[in-house]
Amino acid sequence: MLEGKRVLLIIGGGIAAFKSLELIRRLRERGCAVTPVLTASAEEFVTPLSVSALAAEKVHRDLFDLTEESEMGHIELSRSADLVVVAPCTANLMAKMAGGHADDLASTLLMATDKPVLIAPAMNVRMWQHPATQRNLSTLRQDSVLAVGPDEGEMACGEFGPGRMSEPPDIISAVAAVLSDGPLNGRHILVTSGPTIEPIDPVRYIANRSSGAQGAAIAQALASLGARVTFVTGPSSIPTPIGVKAVPVESAMQMLEAVEAALPADAAVFAAAVADWRVARKSTQKIKKDGSGKPPAIEFTENPDILSAVARKREDRPALVVGFAAETGDVVNHATAKRERKACDWIVANDVSPETGIMGGAENEVILITDDGAEKWPRMDKTQVAVRLATRIAETLA
Ligand code: CTP
Repeated sequence: MLEGKRVLLIIGGGIAAFKSLELIRRLRERGCAVTPVLTASAEEFVTPLSVSALAAEKVHRDLFDLTEESEMGHIELSRSADLVVVAPCTANLMAKMAGGHADDLASTLLMATDKPVLIAPAMNVRMWQHPATQRNLSTLRQDSVLAVGPDEGEMACGEFGPGRMSEPPDIISAVAAVLSDGPLNGRHILVTSGPTIEPIDPVRYIANRSSGAQGAAIAQALASLGARVTFVTGPSSIPTPIGVKAVPVESAMQMLEAVEAALPADAAVFAAAVADWRVARKSTQKIKKDGSGKPPAIEFTENPDILSAVARKREDRPALVVGFAAETGDVVNHATAKRERKACDWIVANDVSPETGIMGGAENEVILITDDGAEKWPRMDKTQVAVRLATRIAETLA
């Protein structure tokens, strides 16, 4: 699936650099050519000779290498690949990228490239958790830089926590998600996912039990088929799918705004569990007990139906609008009526009664309602449901 592709691999200076050697080997096994670039500190961990031998290519190291400039300038080098991968990406490299520095070959290539960039961060847990690194990460995300990992576990420095570079097979999956020549290449698909949370006052909110697992799996499956995915997600602890543009939101109103901003799209999948109601007048101060023993009266107002609003659009309506229906009985009838009411093309319906173990679980059992009626799918993993749905979307948009 990576046959004929080329990755520009920037190896940063961290103990995880040794894993980059395996990454090169595995990329080449899949038919992907690798142009290696070493930072000065990376050379403290791996030698240019071993990198060059595994890549079967010249290693680029120096911005001011005149021979290199006459053979291939740094601008050309930065654009000669389909994807730029930074592995390991150190805290320092992240800071340089976020700040737009260009003081060595690696950082200059990252500034000059017009190709997607995927980073695999690797650093000590405290460095990863440092507000500066988290700030840089959020800046990089806004700049559409993709990230895989870091993983959690025991680190070379003896500490435990997030900071270990992702394993080469996981980095390869991320590369494949970005580079795949799937049937959805060139298509833009919007996915909503997760719960929404509706504030009562600055410290309290109303939420629901959606984990965001099904929505994330759908976004991942669509991206793996080559779609450009905008993933509008409420708060969720599920890792963000690789190769998608994530737009984090909290409330239904914010989700609606993000969805409107993401249009036009070829298809839209509304997997979010949106709160039907929000607090009419949220308090700007924490609501205090008033001593009377009486609970406060909270007034609700209805949230806009995001699915229905998009499905009823005259302009910019996606060609395929897919809604979900979480029911606890009479699933087909309720979901069929919901499809009519919300004017969407398909409804993915499921029974979320507690005894099914579906809400918050790993499996799902869905009924797909289309113009042709109800189609019952067997119980399967949420990732398999996602792949089947994404494949069906690809067939329909073809
Ligand atoms: N949905 C939405 N915006 C809302 C509410 C729901 O976009 N404000 C979407 C969900 O993402 C899902 C579908 O509508 O795709 C079904 O939502 P659900 O909550 O099951 O349906 P309701 O309209 O709330 O119907 P009911 O309360 O009768 O189950």
